[in-house]
Amino acid sequence: MKIPKRLQPLVDDGLIDEVLSRLMSGKEADVYVVRSGDELRCAKVYKEAAKRSFKKAAQYTEGRKVRNSRRQRAMEKGSKFGRKEQEQIWQNAEVDALYQLADAGVRVPEPRGCMDGVLLMELVVDENGDVAPRLGDVMMTDLEAIGHHAFVMQDVVRMLCAGIVHGDLSEFNVLLDEYGPVIIDLPQAVNASANNNAKAMLERDVDNMTKYFGQFAPDLLETNFGKEIWQLFEDGKLRPDTVLTGEYEESEEAADVDGVMIQIQEAFKEEQERLERIRQANEGD
Ligand SMILES: Nc1ncnc2c1ncn2[C@@H]1O[C@H](COP(=O)(O)OP(=O)(O)OP(=O)(O)O)[C@@H](O)[C@H]1O
Ligand SMILES: [Mg+2]
Repeated sequence: MKIPKRLQPLVDDGLIDEVLSRLMSGKEADVYVVRSGDELRCAKVYKEAAKRSFKKAAQYTEGRKVRNSRRQRAMEKGSKFGRKEQEQIWQNAEVDALYQLADAGVRVPEPRGCMDGVLLMELVVDENGDVAPRLGDVMMTDLEAIGHHAFVMQDVVRMLCAGIVHGDLSEFNVLLDEYGPVIIDLPQAVNASANNNAKAMLERDVDNMTKYFGQFAPDLLETNFGKEIWQLFEDGKLRPDTVLTGEYEESEEAADVDGVMIQIQEAFKEEQERLERIRQANEGD
């Protein structure tokens, strides 16, 4: 296809060899499939702030640190220089989060850098090599839903252990490849300890996922992973491999583990073992 203007600098720099198609035009970005050498990649072109419709941006940017105080002042005043800086921070937040999360073992597209307002990353594909569908576009059995849910919960835990809350987790921001869910779309990711809204955002992220998978496996609707995860985090007890129960008791009384929970925990354990096998297989590559 004809090279879009915003991708031209990356073509000139040799980062992109060919633009194959436009995947979609979202609220915040246009997404293209491109080829770099023999690798297919995804190029996310951010829209300018004025064209974005992301609500309550201040809620997300709270706690983001800027090292240079001249920059901080310019941003606070909202001067043209400040707005440009703000834009840069927004765009870099996603690539920074991707590098950090990939390091923490969270399944995200592998980042390949960000320049001129364009994020280059691995293209997530399905078993046929086609662009992977979003969770919201696939049907699944109750067992698949429980397995994928458990996997997403564990990635939410890994993210939080790395200090990050997604902040916009939904069935449209999770892709499904042959190994399972891959989390995308992180420009609004928040710093878990510096942001006062982090707890509410984590709970909303988890509830979105639970409600979505709960359509296929209604037992999930009885769980309370969000509160459990945050409590463990707050108590300094959350680890990347913490085994969750899905239960949360406001009181000290011991919880009743009924059949539903046992089933979920078993699916969860199986999922963790499956992932461990994938990880080991990948390490052996
Ligand atoms: N790495 C990737 N591999 C494959 N497809 C991708 C990748 N990144 C994004 N997509 C596709 O592009 C769509 C938009 O990407 P993303 O969610 O990051 O941008 P967005 O502008 O926030 O979109 P929206 O506002 O609709 O959520 C995704 O829903 C997904 O279908
Ligand atoms: Mg999105």
